[in-house]
Amino acid sequence: MTRTIVITGGTNGIGRALARHYAQRGDQVVAVGSSEDGGRRLREEVPGVRFIRADLSSLRQSSDLVERLRTEHPVVDALVLAAFRFNPTRVETEEGFEHTFALYVLNRWLLAEGLRGPLEKAAAPVIINLCGAGQGGAGKGGPGKRGAGKGGAGKGGLIRWDDLQFKDRYRAVAATMQGARASELLGAAYASERTKYVLYNPVFVATGLHEPFGQPLRSLVRVASAVFAQPVAKAVRPIAALIDQPPAEPLTAWKKGKIIDLAVDLNEVRRFEETIRAMAQSGLP
Ligand SMILES: NC(=O)c1ccc[n+]([C@@H]2O[C@H](COP(=O)([O-])OP(=O)(O)OC[C@H]3O[C@@H](n4cnc5c(N)ncnc54)[C@H](OP(=O)(O)O)[C@@H]3O)[C@@H](O)[C@H]2O)c1
Repeated sequence: MTRTIVITGGTNGIGRALARHYAQRGDQVVAVGSSEDGGRRLREEVPGVRFIRADLSSLRQSSDLVERLRTEHPVVDALVLAAFRFNPTRVETEEGFEHTFALYVLNRWLLAEGLRGPLEKAAAPVIINLCGAGQGGAGKGGPGKRGAGKGGAGKGGLIRWDDLQFKDRYRAVAATMQGARASELLGAAYASERTKYVLYNPVFVATGLHEPFGQPLRSLVRVASAVFAQPVAKAVRPIAALIDQPPAEPLTAWKKGKIIDLAVDLNEVRRFEETIRAMAQSGLP
């Protein structure tokens, strides 16, 4: 049976490898990226893929994309959230959001919520949120917590509640880790029994991670990537397995193919989801 797989960030790295994999299997793949060049290269390599250009750091373009997908693809079997950019310095979008927050947090919430209807109509729907799950959090298990899996969750909340847009003392790694924690909270907030929500941390995959950095860091990351990072082809296998056979639980977290604990404080989940919903509705940070 032909399935529809929507992949944000489907023009490079892990997203592109998944796009190639499913298009070659005969599924309908919709890959989204911000550059025409990326789309052209993908279409040359995998002619069957449908490419849609959209800057997903823009709330307006993300909402337009949702509308278009809902009209043109009334049933979506899998939504893979892989659009990401590491910002060494603080970038503000035209709509006034810090770029990492806009792309990694707001966009992912909008896509997951906006495609809820088309996903619920599929036979075994799944959302794969490729993120840095499992590196922070509020501790393990216990009352008022919602968790999944085995293994270790980290320590310490990573949401900068007093400055979500990192206006003060921007740190690229902290903004990225906030995005990873946000994915955990929004995954916990998603709450669908039908559409399984999978947080997947691929850990270290050779996808051109050195590119955003200036020298000498660029060379260092390139060498570290060559020595330690997993090849993309290997990294996508367990992700494809989760798309093909989604877990039974509504929410699971994975690190490099292994299920891990996810501990979230339900009060923080609610507070964060309400904050994001209000931002998406008002269009204001
Ligand atoms: N690679 C790793 O080691 C690693 C580790 C942990 C987590 N992850 C997660 O895995 C996912 C994929 O990582 P990757 O390394 O494969 O990424 P990647 O190779 O850097 O590719 C990023 C993708 O996102 C798209 N993108 C970037 N900005 C965009 C925007 N504003 N609007 C639309 N699309 C945009 C890019 O296309 P355009 O340039 O055309 O926009 C590209 O297709 C990410 O979510 C990342 O956080 C990766």
